[in-house]
Amino acid sequence: MQVVVDGKVRDIKTVWMSNDVVWLIEQNLLPYEVQFFQAGTVEDVARAIETMVVRGAPAIGATAAYGIALAALKGEPLDEAAKRLKATRPTAYDLFYAIDLMLKEIGKGTPPVKAADDYAARISDMCRRIGENGDEVIRNGDSILTHCNAGALATVDHGTALAPMREAHRNGKRIFVYVDETRPRLQGAKLTAWELSNEGIDYAIIVDNAAGRLMQSGEIDLVIVGADRIAANGDVANKIGTYEKALIARDNSVPFYVAAPTSTIDFSLQDGRSIPIEERSESEVLHISGRRIAPKGAKARNPAFDVTSADLITGIITERGIHKPYELRDLRG
Ligand code: MRU
Repeated sequence: MQVVVDGKVRDIKTVWMSNDVVWLIEQNLLPYEVQFFQAGTVEDVARAIETMVVRGAPAIGATAAYGIALAALKGEPLDEAAKRLKATRPTAYDLFYAIDLMLKEIGKGTPPVKAADDYAARISDMCRRIGENGDEVIRNGDSILTHCNAGALATVDHGTALAPMREAHRNGKRIFVYVDETRPRLQGAKLTAWELSNEGIDYAIIVDNAAGRLMQSGEIDLVIVGADRIAANGDVANKIGTYEKALIARDNSVPFYVAAPTSTIDFSLQDGRSIPIEERSESEVLHISGRRIAPKGAKARNPAFDVTSADLITGIITERGIHKPYELRDLRG
C-alpha cells in the first residue's frame, strides 16, 4: 500500500521483518500519524496483537508468523512461543493457522525468517487475487457498503473486502463506498476511511445504524465485508454488527459478499456456533476518545464479533474464486 511518511510516498506492508526486528504500522495512531512499532521479542509481538497495534485476521496471522521466527532465531522454545501468541486473541483463525504452519515449516528445516517471509508473501498474493476475483461483482456506478476495516492494514497488503474495490477503481469503474464507522473502536471511520483516502476512492462514513435506511432508499447496491473465521458450512464470524448488516441486506434484496483468504477458513468447525467470540473491555463502550460518556456505575457489554449464518451470504470471495457458502468444503486440501 502507498503511504505518505515524512512527506514522501512509500510503498509499505502492514508487517515485515528487518534485522531481526518485526516492524508494524502502529494502527492505534492512525489516521492522525504514521508511526512504526518495532517488536524485538515474542512478548513484544504478543503485546502488539493484544493492544491492537496490529489487527485484522490475516495481519494478526502474519505478525504471529514473524513472532515464531523471532523465537526460533533466539533459540527459544517454539511451543512456549506458540502458546503465548495463540493466547492473544481468540476469534481470528489466521492466528492459529499461521502459527501451526510455521511450526511445520521450521520442523521441515525451512529457515524461520524465510518461512515467515514466505507466509506473508503468500497472504499478500492471496489478497491480490481476492481483488481480481471480487472485481467481477462490482459494476460501474455501484455504491458498496463495508464494515470495520478489511483493507491492507488488516492483511499484509491489498486487503480482503477492500481489495475488489481497489481493483474496480484501478480498472476505471466509478464506485462509491459507504463506510460503517464501527463502534466501539471505529476501525471504519479511522482505518478504512484512511485507506480509501490514500487510494482516491470516493466514500462517506455512516454511523453503524444508518445502513438500513440507505438500503431501503436504494442507495446501496452491494455489501462486501471481511471475515475473522469461517466455519466449514460457510457461517462467518466478523466484526460485531456484520450479522445485522446481512439481515438488512437480505430484507432489501442487496447482495452480501464476504471476502477472505482460505487461511481464514476453519474446516474443523462444522458451523459457526462453536466459533469463540472475543469479549473486550467494557471501557471501550463507556468511553469515547478517553472521555467517559455514560453515568457513573453504568455497565456495558462488548462482544467484538458476531456470526452471520451461511444462508444470508450471497458469495464468499477467496483467492480461488467466488463460492457459494456450501461449496467451501470443496476447498479443503
Ligand atoms: O477487532 P479487529 O479490528 O481485529 O477486527 C477486524 C475485523 O473484524 C475484520 O473485518 C476481519 O479481521 C477481516 S480483515 C481482512
